[in-house]
Amino acid sequence: MKPIRKAVFPVAGLGTRFLPATKTIPKEMLPVVDKPVIQHVVEEARAAGIEHFIFVTGRGKGAIEDHFDHVFELNATLHQRGRDEDLARLKDNTPLPGRTSFTRQQEPLGLGHAVWCARDLVGDEPFAVLLPDMLHEGVTPCLADMIKERAQHGGQVIAAYEVPEHETHRYGILDLHGETQGTPRIHAMIEKPQKGKAPSNFAISGRYILSPEIFDVLEHQQRGAGGEIQLTDAMVTLMNTVPYHAHLFRGRVFDTGHQLGFLTANIAYALKRPDIGEELRAIIKELM
Ligand code: UTP
Repeated sequence: MKPIRKAVFPVAGLGTRFLPATKTIPKEMLPVVDKPVIQHVVEEARAAGIEHFIFVTGRGKGAIEDHFDHVFELNATLHQRGRDEDLARLKDNTPLPGRTSFTRQQEPLGLGHAVWCARDLVGDEPFAVLLPDMLHEGVTPCLADMIKERAQHGGQVIAAYEVPEHETHRYGILDLHGETQGTPRIHAMIEKPQKGKAPSNFAISGRYILSPEIFDVLEHQQRGAGGEIQLTDAMVTLMNTVPYHAHLFRGRVFDTGHQLGFLTANIAYALKRPDIGEELRAIIKELM
């Protein structure tokens, strides 16, 4: 079984739910406490052993590329000021030279199309996809657990988490034939089902381990929900040939792509920080 060495980060979306902030700032660069959301997700991938980081960017997303580069003047200034701890942290956050690639999705035609744009960089090997606006907070990193499950079951692995029934129409939902434990087989999936028609309340949480056959399917994929080329639709086409299993993520998932999810993530991550957590707790109490 080929190992999972590469991860794709689709970051070409317009982030319209976060306007006006995202008029000039990529939504993936908005900070959760003091790290851009994309940094949190790249760290999850690194913790899972990913060696090569592929970003599918778009117009106005140059800050992401700069973020994963060395800033010579800043490094020199921090060193001069004796702030070597900050400098070490910055360097630690930067992938090794040659371990990042950037390609462009010229038009935001949907997540499926963004993943397809990475086909030449991924090549003929299985790979991971991580949606940068979904933060997973668990005992162990989500992607690392998925890679272990793939080693056991083979095929493709999709992470999912439980959402309230009345919210299922907002997500890609898995049909698990009623199984809610272990690493169940996925029998079907549907993007944004109509209210009351969801096959379960397990929603795709933005972490995927896919085989390269998905690129051939995406090449001919028609537009689906929302007029976009959907990754879920392409995965459904492959279901008869490649088995899929669900990684049922039991931690907390924060969808930082909308205001409430973003604010909740900031509060949750900040409360856990030893340097500011206690003070923030007191401030929140006072505000309430
Ligand atoms: P979202 O649908 O959450 O992002 O896609 P969006 O389209 O930027 O958000 P809104 O609805 O306008 O606020 C999930 C991830 O997929 C990327 C986004 O950048 C985001 O990280 N994406 C989405 C692409 O790279 N290309 C696309 O065409 C669509």
